[in-house]
Amino acid sequence: MKTLAASLTLATALAVMPQMAGAQDYPTQPITIVVPFTAGGPTDTVTRLVAQAMSADLGQQIVVENVGGAGGTLGAGRVAQAQPDGYTLLLHHIGMATSATLYRELPFNALEDFEYVGLVTEVPMVMVGRPDLEAETLEDVINFVREGGEDVMYANAGIGAASHLCGLLFMEAIDTQMTTIPYQGTGPAVTDLMGGQVDLMCDQTTNTTPQINEGSIKAFAVTVPERVESLPDVPTGAEAGIDGFEVSIWHGVYAPKGTPEEIVQRLSQSLQVALADETVIARFGDLGTVPSPAEDATPEALQAKVQSEIDLWRPIIEAAGVYAN
Ligand code: MLT
Repeated sequence: MKTLAASLTLATALAVMPQMAGAQDYPTQPITIVVPFTAGGPTDTVTRLVAQAMSADLGQQIVVENVGGAGGTLGAGRVAQAQPDGYTLLLHHIGMATSATLYRELPFNALEDFEYVGLVTEVPMVMVGRPDLEAETLEDVINFVREGGEDVMYANAGIGAASHLCGLLFMEAIDTQMTTIPYQGTGPAVTDLMGGQVDLMCDQTTNTTPQINEGSIKAFAVTVPERVESLPDVPTGAEAGIDGFEVSIWHGVYAPKGTPEEIVQRLSQSLQVALADETVIARFGDLGTVPSPAEDATPEALQAKVQSEIDLWRPIIEAAGVYAN
């Protein structure tokens, strides 16, 4: 019996040894971070800034791979099915939680298929319009939408995207529907807004602050209780006279379920180093946001955030009755 026990212990040790060895000298090869939207949008911008700082800390190249589609759920599903070896990660936003209600069929479960690395940042949104839109205030925009209804073109990055959620809140608040034009990310959407191909969009300040400040799109209200430092002249929704138009877009880093704990902890530690990096802090500030504090760039904080946000958004989405499938 003793020999059998000894051989089982040895077999177990041999089975986990590669993972243990991998965890101890991780990372030994380039890491991929999947962004579930096209390049050039706010999720991509945040990821590339953080990836550069994490790469310096980890001493390994980090490749950003854009996998757009279905409001971020295609990219998230890709990572859920990836090898749990620490070399394929996901940086996603609030859509990780809202898709749990919006999508009745999903290629992943946000609470079962991932290891949580940590929160990255929480970004305000801003209602913006094409440069020649006949509106100067949010009240003008509300009148424009109420008069135009479904003739008004509202751009977003698909159901479940932050731009979708913001539009949902806005249309619920004014009790008027616009026609939604979905993109693979709000990078290309803001380009079409600048060109006048669409009328309105609600996007993160990380993807609109430069365009607003140079006058190539119009800004009407931010979706947070206080004005945004990099957009001092843009009123809050409350100041502009609209209730219930508040949402800020938190972002987190995830790894596939089963990624060794030592690797997850090393990644959380590296994320905290990146979020304390002066360049990251400065660039986030230019774009209207700040890095999450170190205590939030942890697995426990991100897991709690995902759970609480699923619970928060479920009744809001069910009341709106908008589902992706
Ligand atoms: C969103 O609307 O979810 C994001 O802005 C999409 C993106 O990052 O491109």
